[in-house]
Amino acid sequence: MRVLSGIQPTGRFHWGNYFGAIQQYIDLQNEDESYYFIANLHALTTLRDREALQRNTLDAALDLLALGLDPEKAVLFVQSDVPEVSELCWILMTTTPLGQLERCTAFKDKKAKGISADAGLFTYPVLMAADILAFESDVVPVGQDQIQHLEVTRDLAQKFNHLFGETFVLPKPKVLDHSAKVPGVDGEKMSKSYDNTVEIFEPLKQQRKKLMRIVTDSRAMEDPKEPETDHLFQLYSLFASDAQKEEMAATYRQGGFGYGMVKKALAEVSETYFAEARERREELAAQPEKVREILGDGAATARKKAAQVLLRAQQACGLKSL
Ligand code: ADP
Ligand code: TRP
Repeated sequence: MRVLSGIQPTGRFHWGNYFGAIQQYIDLQNEDESYYFIANLHALTTLRDREALQRNTLDAALDLLALGLDPEKAVLFVQSDVPEVSELCWILMTTTPLGQLERCTAFKDKKAKGISADAGLFTYPVLMAADILAFESDVVPVGQDQIQHLEVTRDLAQKFNHLFGETFVLPKPKVLDHSAKVPGVDGEKMSKSYDNTVEIFEPLKQQRKKLMRIVTDSRAMEDPKEPETDHLFQLYSLFASDAQKEEMAATYRQGGFGYGMVKKALAEVSETYFAEARERREELAAQPEKVREILGDGAATARKKAAQVLLRAQQACGLKSL
């Protein structure tokens, strides 16, 4: 089984990205083959700051490696280092019905938010299809919001296969488990767009301050509280052991505690949880040439695979002779 997924370098990764996506990528890296890439071409549709894009791309690689992505097991690369994907994107574009892209809700949502509706934003799903098809991916772990793009990918692959003969493998989405939809510091879903994130590798002092400012209700100290519906408890549960969770839940139900105590406990468990990754990240950050080498090796492996599929597509539609 071949697994592939991409993540956009539009900012620093936060707890929501970790529990909603990255942790599951890492679990899947033990499959026969896995490919993970930093989708900088996709990020370019919304991020127009040369330095930020460069910095975020390197930071994304450092974060993923520090969190446990193992280049011995998974191929890690930067999307733009594999130009075969962009070539394949053009070929797919020639058979993509406009209506299909017009129906994509991600495009409509972004446009409604005021992001300029450029051709790159509109054709975003075609590049995503090329990413997936270029590696003959069987399984694509993605969040719920990307399922529609997977449907587009399957439709485009089927249409091409129908027009030119069997060329592409049809991928299946694997919906990431968001049962732990991670709340942000304001209790809403944690997201860069809501400015309510806790970054995984934020400096500890700053992170602690942020945690101490998590919004809570105005319950009196002595009142008991139902833990399961409380976002502070939900955050604590992401990091705590079962025993710690039970103990905290009992304290909630009993009452006689303040939220400050829970926030401190959250800071402690989260720091412990990421302590090793933080150390690894510092080591890696001091060796940028090593990270560049990992990404270079990843791109070389990825290019070999993508070149085979691209050639097959070029031959199928008549761009190259058989
Ligand atoms: P953001 O909302 O911060 O822009 P992205 O859309 O780039 O995050 O998400 C990248 C991945 O992280 C996706 O798979 C997404 O579903 C997951 N993810 C983001 N925020 C959360 C969250 N609060 N809870 C669970 N998963 C999340
Ligand atoms: N669009 C995805 C997201 O925003 C990122 C992405 C780009 C991707 N290409 C991909 C995910 C290919 C899976 C497969 O989350």
